[in-house]
Amino acid sequence: MRVLVVGSGGREHALAWAIAASPLVDKVYCAPGNAGIAEDAECAPVAASDTRGLIAFCRKAAIDFVVVGPEAPLVGGLVDALEAAGIAAFGPSKAAAALEGSKGFLKDLCAREGIPTAVYRRFRDAAAAKAYIAEQGAPIVVKADGLAAGKGVTVAATVAEAQAAVDAALGDGRFGAAGTEIIVEECLQGEEASFFALVDGANALPLTAAQDHKRVGDGDTGPNTGGMGAFSPTPLVTPGVEGEVMERMILPTVRAMARDGRPFKGVLYAGLMLTEAGPKLLEYNVRFGDPECQVLMMRLMSDIVPALIATRDGILKEVDLRWYDKAALCVVMASSGYPDEPLRGTEIRGLQKASGTEVKIFHAATKRDGDRLLADGGRVLGVTALGRDLAAARGLAYGAVGKIDWPEGFCRRDIGLRRG
Ligand code: AMP
Ligand code: GLY
Repeated sequence: MRVLVVGSGGREHALAWAIAASPLVDKVYCAPGNAGIAEDAECAPVAASDTRGLIAFCRKAAIDFVVVGPEAPLVGGLVDALEAAGIAAFGPSKAAAALEGSKGFLKDLCAREGIPTAVYRRFRDAAAAKAYIAEQGAPIVVKADGLAAGKGVTVAATVAEAQAAVDAALGDGRFGAAGTEIIVEECLQGEEASFFALVDGANALPLTAAQDHKRVGDGDTGPNTGGMGAFSPTPLVTPGVEGEVMERMILPTVRAMARDGRPFKGVLYAGLMLTEAGPKLLEYNVRFGDPECQVLMMRLMSDIVPALIATRDGILKEVDLRWYDKAALCVVMASSGYPDEPLRGTEIRGLQKASGTEVKIFHAATKRDGDRLLADGGRVLGVTALGRDLAAARGLAYGAVGKIDWPEGFCRRDIGLRRG
């Protein structure tokens, strides 16, 4: 088989690496990919947003199966376009990707199906939103309805901060079309975790849980990022929590989407708040998380390709995935200045020395300049290790970080220390 992975981050590197290991696969391509992905797949210079270019590439390269990594092309309808062109693809249709593409859509679905989530209201009118905030008091959460590259959520400690977030979205148009509608919701307290399941339209196969570290600085300080590190499994998601998430969130969602004529196929990523009253759903993402995908792929013992194909074909019941009884941990190395203004083009050395059988360095944003490897974005490397337990994986990952010669790079020092 010939498989194309769409995207260019650490998630796509982890997917391309896992797919390349499958005996079913002759060749893996990635569009557009990056310098690290080029070591596991052949990169094609086609942007993830270029639907026509991707279809043309699939035809030229005789691609049998496409795996779409990022949310924007999914919400934009890339899988619909590929399937309409006769190209089999992993990921939800545009209609099903609304679970991530519209927080209002998701919240209404939760309300209808009785899925535990924060109490909320939807608004298009700033005055009405502000009145509701004044009535509820702080802390309170304001969210842009649409995709806002992780920047659309304000967890406001005061009423004034929440009202400023309303003005930014509805008044100043900070999030463009993604913010012409907002959600105002109850602020939940607890520990956060992520849970992943494959869904084939009708059936769901639980994968595993992970924890991400979203703030840029040690001890969860500083601005939010796409994720500075992750680990899996997490002791927070016990078998009991997993059962509750499947029964009360994932399965009702799968049934509702099928009933509404927008069956969900792909990976469903539930962002959870583990509150005193039990797990509540913060959000769904309709794709793997990044860096969570990097730890998931390290822990996966089974061939991922049959699972991805069965998801698309609607025969997930035939799939049984096995995981190493070990822990994986990923430390993200970012360019100084991230997340605001990351330095670009600085040289990275020593990756070969830092990699090994238990450590894989996934690339999130790198490029080659002759023999030199250069940083090409904010989050640049995902140093990912598999160890007998979390402490061992942590030791291996930070040991590898210490061997990387990149003065302009930085990472958090406390990945995996927050255990809930
Ligand atoms: P989301 O993109 O909806 O997951 O929100 C991004 C982050 O904002 C989450 O990972 C949480 O840390 C925080 N967040 C979102 N919704 C809430 C809420 N209702 N209560 C508390 N924190 C929240
Ligand atoms: N790591 C969070 C995300 O992928 O959305």
